[in-house]
Amino acid sequence: LWDLEGWIDMMTKQIKETVGQDKVICGLSGGVDSTVAAVLTHKAIGDNLECIFVDNGLLRMNEAQEVLKVYEDLHLKVHAVDAREEFLSALKGVTDPERKRKIIGEIFIRVFEKKANEIGGAKWLLQGTVYPDVIESGKKGKDAAVIKSHHNVGGLPEEMDLKVLEPLRDLFKDEVRRIGAMLDVPEVILKRHPFPGPGLAVRCLGEITPERLDTLRKADKIFLEEIRKEGLYDEIWQAFCVLLPVKTVGVMGDVRTYAEIVGLRAVSSQDGMTADWVKLPMELLDRVSRRICNEVPGANRVVYDVTSKPPSTIEWE
Ligand code: XMP
Repeated sequence: LWDLEGWIDMMTKQIKETVGQDKVICGLSGGVDSTVAAVLTHKAIGDNLECIFVDNGLLRMNEAQEVLKVYEDLHLKVHAVDAREEFLSALKGVTDPERKRKIIGEIFIRVFEKKANEIGGAKWLLQGTVYPDVIESGKKGKDAAVIKSHHNVGGLPEEMDLKVLEPLRDLFKDEVRRIGAMLDVPEVILKRHPFPGPGLAVRCLGEITPERLDTLRKADKIFLEEIRKEGLYDEIWQAFCVLLPVKTVGVMGDVRTYAEIVGLRAVSSQDGMTADWVKLPMELLDRVSRRICNEVPGANRVVYDVTSKPPSTIEWE
């Protein structure tokens, strides 16, 4: 449909003309959109683009290190901020999903702003907004009912008085992926399942503690490992674990256990707006369940989510 090579040339020229010698900052999340936006802009203006990566303590296992390594290989200028403490202490005792999202959004802005001020001199904020984000945020403006607060579009520092640069705003996700591939963005980023901004906070139902996050991360790693081994990762829109704040009784050897439940979620989808639960092979579910109960402290029961969207959402919070 599109001449994507031509689009890349056209857009890098346009970025150059638009920002000139100005400094541009951007937040990198490890996701496809922000990464492709950054690589494209870096192609246009080099190190006048400075990127900020915030570790909020809510990422998957080893994710921060993996993603930072990719950015290094892509020669992006990245400032990594370790804000784990700040996020986790603000979330202490919070169980309401919308409050979790709100707190995370606010702290992200604060941390981002602080770093941006340290870097200094930026005139532009680069965002990885894609066409579906534009549509969805427009819809939200009109319909008063917000199902979940997303803080991707227009959620960044208004007070910072930066002009917004959104080179991907006319593109669909698959076009962004194809452009990313042409710009040598590796498959680990391009094929990575979507991950919500509030991260594991909305998958760790109930209170967020370092111990519960640890349980969730270990279970999630096992689930994804087994899905990859089976060759199913690329067919699935999203697969992940949730940790439920419900304890049930179990038995390990001849000892009674009383621990929390891990929920497995795997869905297929075109755009995340609707989704079907995936009929994973029983043997795979069996392996995952056994491994989680044997290898992950804090969990003694595994359940599989067999609901589609609607009526459920993909995430549990
Ligand atoms: P739901 O749970 O609403 O999710 O069916 C639809 C898609 O959006 C992702 N999601 C988010 N992405 N910030 C994001 O960047 C968020 O706050 C957020 N909440 C949900 C979700 O993972 C799924 O792909």
